[in-house]
Amino acid sequence: MKSAETGKNIKKAASILKTEGIVAIPTETVYGLAANIFSKKAVNKIYKIKNRPKSNPLIVHVESIDKAKELVKSFPVTATLLAENFWPGPLTLILPKNNNVGPWITAGENTVAIRIPKHSLTLKLLKQTGFPLAAPSANPFKYISPVTAAQVKKMLGDKIEYILDGGKCKKGIESTIVEVKGDKVNLLRSGAITAEQIEKVLGYSLTNTGKKTRSHPGMFKKHYSPHTPLLVTTDVMKSYFENKGKKVAVISFQRKYPLPRNIIQIILNKQGIMEKAAANLYDSLHRLDSGQYDLIIAEKAPELGIGKAINERLKKASA
Ligand code: TXA
Ligand code: MG
Repeated sequence: MKSAETGKNIKKAASILKTEGIVAIPTETVYGLAANIFSKKAVNKIYKIKNRPKSNPLIVHVESIDKAKELVKSFPVTATLLAENFWPGPLTLILPKNNNVGPWITAGENTVAIRIPKHSLTLKLLKQTGFPLAAPSANPFKYISPVTAAQVKKMLGDKIEYILDGGKCKKGIESTIVEVKGDKVNLLRSGAITAEQIEKVLGYSLTNTGKKTRSHPGMFKKHYSPHTPLLVTTDVMKSYFENKGKKVAVISFQRKYPLPRNIIQIILNKQGIMEKAAANLYDSLHRLDSGQYDLIIAEKAPELGIGKAINERLKKASA
């Protein structure tokens, strides 16, 4: 019964995508707003719905390494190594594009961002459509990315034809983005896969030139942010006392702080498990951004592993 329903939903999503429509899709990281990469008209709808600047290129989602190879000029040995180790999964590779990829995907850049998402519904959907899907996160530009279908519905429900509900996203934070140039791998955005994990596979260090290209994923100072002001701190109690006149809510990383009982306190993960804390971050921000609070106080994560991705998001969310 349940799988029959799932089959019906995937069929519906595929038929909308085949007729140049937009569908919100689940991935292991966050929900995406998907369109057929070969339809300029459909892809333009994504920019309009998100209110996203046309200068910001999109990630292409494919179902296999072979499909990825159809989109690029070359797929270096290093890219194969990373793809074989991390795909399907939250690693996006930036590679030189070929003519199968229109400029409407890449904002005119000569590179394209590609990944195979790890979500059974979306992998089935990609098989059914037969074409790759361009998909940015399914949030209005600069807002927090959604990790449930309900969050997509709340933000964009009146603007999109269909949301393929695949449950809560397991990673809850965006993919890591690296640019592959020969054997050089440049980290452009921290994400669900840590630099250490990638370096272990490569056997050498990532480079991060810090060079900001036009489409560099770090180019927007403010991003991933709630409507409620957000304060990032290493000292929750101090920040609480400094803002005592305000209605505050607290997101702490691991500890429960001795705050008055009427203060809402979300603990990202009591055991301090980084991956689990990351998976709860956007969900917690969505929950607290309901207009009830003057300020959200969020505790910085330890600056290691996926903590770096958490802190990068918190910094931009509070800008
Ligand atoms: O986990 C994810 O990556 C999610 C899911 C839906 O796959 N997608 C996502 O997309 O986070 P978006 O659009 O929110 O972020 C993609 C980032 C943007 O900052 C964009 O600038 C960068 O990727 N990007 C895309 N193509 C690029 C390229 N050719 N060169 C450099 N950066 C690129
Ligand atoms: Mg995004």
